[in-house]
Amino acid sequence: MRLEEAKRIIEETLPTKRYIHTLGVVETAVQLARRYGVQEDKVALAAMLHDYAKYRNVSEMQTIAVELGLNHLLAYEDELLHAPVGAELVKRELGVEDVEVYQAIANHTTGAPGMPLLDQIIFVADAIEPNRRYPGVDQLRQIAQEDLTQAVIATLGQTITFLCKKQTVIFPLTIETYNAFITEKRKGTVL
Ligand SMILES: [Fe+2]
Ligand SMILES: [Fe+2]
Repeated sequence: MRLEEAKRIIEETLPTKRYIHTLGVVETAVQLARRYGVQEDKVALAAMLHDYAKYRNVSEMQTIAVELGLNHLLAYEDELLHAPVGAELVKRELGVEDVEVYQAIANHTTGAPGMPLLDQIIFVADAIEPNRRYPGVDQLRQIAQEDLTQAVIATLGQTITFLCKKQTVIFPLTIETYNAFITEKRKGTVL
């Protein structure tokens, strides 16, 4: 799918505020792709489509999550569903067959241990795009320019801290991803 076509679909699908967020993610993700030598067109498409399912009916998303064998997700926040379900709907409804784009969309909320650079870029860009406003976001933006792995770790840390403050349940994969990236960083074997 061409980027312009994806952009048109997203503009029609998402509310204005989320569409503007999406354009911010595309801009930031493309900049990071240049910085870290990742294929720009793939990054731009994944960024454009990452929140495709954000406003889908929860029961519809739950049904698809079960079809995908992700039953364990149903015990957690509904917010988690739109990433893996979105990846599947982008494939089913929009015919995007690219496995790497699928994975980047699926991993954009929790991350995943060992996720590749494309996924890391979408994950970080989602958190730091220019419309994001929260304490510490400028520091994350700075880190993202210097060390992408460190930006993934810092973004996960920010998310975990935020969820702790709200006393919200933390999805185990978020913590597993955090631990995996810290461990890889210590070993110096990170991508
Ligand atoms: Fe999202
Ligand atoms: Fe997003």
